[in-house]
Amino acid sequence: MCGIVGYIGNQKASPILINGLIRLEYRGYDSAGISTIEKDGLSIMKDKGRVKNLYNLEGIDDLTGTIGIAHTRWATHGKPAKENSHPHMDNSKTFSVVHNGIIENYNELRKFLTENGYTFYSQTDTEVIPNLVHYYYSKDTQSDELKFLRAVQNACADLKGSYAIEIICKDYKDCMIVTRKDSPLVIGKGEDENYISSDIPAILSFTRNFYLLNDLEFAILTREAVSFYDKDLNAISKKAEVIEWNAASAEKDGYDDFMLKEIHEQPTAIRETIGAKFSETSKCEFDELNFTKEYLSGLNKIYIVACGTAMYAGLVGKNAIEKLCKITTEVDVASEFRYRDPLVDDKTLCIFISQSGETADTIAALKLCKEKGAKTLAISNVIGSSITREADYSIYTHAGPEIAVASTKAYTSQVMLITILAIYFAEVLEINTTTLNTLKKDIMELPAKIEETLKLSENIQDFSKKAYQEKDIFFLGRGIDEAVAKEGSLKLKEISYIHSESYPAGELKHGPIALIENDITVVSIMTDCKLVEKTVSNIQEVITRGAKTLVITNQDVDEKMFDLTIRIPETNPFISPILSIIPLQLFAYYISKEKGLDVDKPRNLAKSVTVE
Ligand code: M6R
Repeated sequence: MCGIVGYIGNQKASPILINGLIRLEYRGYDSAGISTIEKDGLSIMKDKGRVKNLYNLEGIDDLTGTIGIAHTRWATHGKPAKENSHPHMDNSKTFSVVHNGIIENYNELRKFLTENGYTFYSQTDTEVIPNLVHYYYSKDTQSDELKFLRAVQNACADLKGSYAIEIICKDYKDCMIVTRKDSPLVIGKGEDENYISSDIPAILSFTRNFYLLNDLEFAILTREAVSFYDKDLNAISKKAEVIEWNAASAEKDGYDDFMLKEIHEQPTAIRETIGAKFSETSKCEFDELNFTKEYLSGLNKIYIVACGTAMYAGLVGKNAIEKLCKITTEVDVASEFRYRDPLVDDKTLCIFISQSGETADTIAALKLCKEKGAKTLAISNVIGSSITREADYSIYTHAGPEIAVASTKAYTSQVMLITILAIYFAEVLEINTTTLNTLKKDIMELPAKIEETLKLSENIQDFSKKAYQEKDIFFLGRGIDEAVAKEGSLKLKEISYIHSESYPAGELKHGPIALIENDITVVSIMTDCKLVEKTVSNIQEVITRGAKTLVITNQDVDEKMFDLTIRIPETNPFISPILSIIPLQLFAYYISKEKGLDVDKPRNLAKSVTVE
């Protein structure tokens, strides 16, 4: 939530900053702003609304500064308005700050600063930061090169909450300071120039060399170098990591929207995620993991904890782990799990799934499990993300950057990876060889089947034209198809703003069927041969009550019964969600397009939820 960018070099900073913000806009789009160091001091240009509005601001083209910071906002404290937009300055206009996160004790700090003569012009939590820095700066009687850093350090010591902060100072024209705690921030290393961003893809076209800052560390960026300090301001050294993603993967590449591009990238994402972890004849191996039979067979339970789509991927993982490894597996929403004193101990393995690796609730749940003595395993798409730095073990999906707010290729990659993880566990436990070998063979054939499934988009687009004006849409499934129904329903509500619900098909009669009325759309997924007849009966019940039906199946069903049947390729039931979700992703996409909505940046949402 909120995106921050920074630049220091020899080029004009403003176009680089705005360009970076455009790429980070998926993190929030309530307002945007930049601050640069100009000949006559600090300049700030900001406004409510989308980043592109910055181009219309008077004087924006006249900025010549080569150092600057920038922000795109997802409003938390204070409504979307110019005065609440970042950057924020202190009263004396010495410091300019952008911030991603939440300062929980801002009221207390505001009171303290007000008592010390400071005035506030916004309703934000952030405005305390530049003023607090100024407070400590003005009290420091030394005037050496670290005075600016000391002031930032002292101010940060007073902050409670989460933050990624960039600060520039009119007295230090050739540097900027950054720091973070529980909010993402990466530093891109260039040739006589350096960059800051909330995530890697936004600055991937400038560099592939990144420094990762740990919580409570500080960095001073000059044009030539980046120096690092721990929380007590002891100098520390860091090595830049080379990120393999290519810059083109963060572009739309001829597609109308990132979401559509990302849906079509799924064959590649799955191929890359499978990688060389196994072959049909060799056992599954993860370089990062060293679980033993003794440890796994001694587990009392596995927990899978995540939010949103990642949690729905966890539901598919539960099915694979329980069926293949016979270990009880529970899936929970991170925001609930962390506050319900879960039964976790050193015999519990806790798995956390997060595309971004920065979701605040998921990180907090992970920390809690560590405190309770459990081993923790992170599944993320972002190398070096916070969750992977906290966990005992980390494994990665290789989906490439996912820019659209609605997750697609990250979800299917998560399902793929956790299924392979289940195979790995089962092999370590020495169980079920025939089932595992068949599953491995089926996984190898999966990317080609995804390609086939993607060819079905035309029929789905036509059906979307009939359904886009609906007020409510229902998703039904049984078994693993119910997990897919949940994800399909989430995708639809996220980007089309149509109210939708998902139910286990057998639950319908226990209440929800009262909502079914003439012409309502019911989507159903049927990929389990053992359950298909039961689900067909449930669909018959809604047809009798006038529903329009869209059925996603690879089973032998009487197509004449339904308004549209989408036939996906047959595959192993453990991985069928990777195919059956694709028509539902396309359904949500085309409905959103039909309604003329912004598919990639749905209202009120942000790609990565770094606040509670
Ligand atoms: O980055 P994460 O995987 O931790 O994000 C979790 C959810 O916020 C995310 O999956 C969200 O539900 C998506 N917008 C769904 O499309």
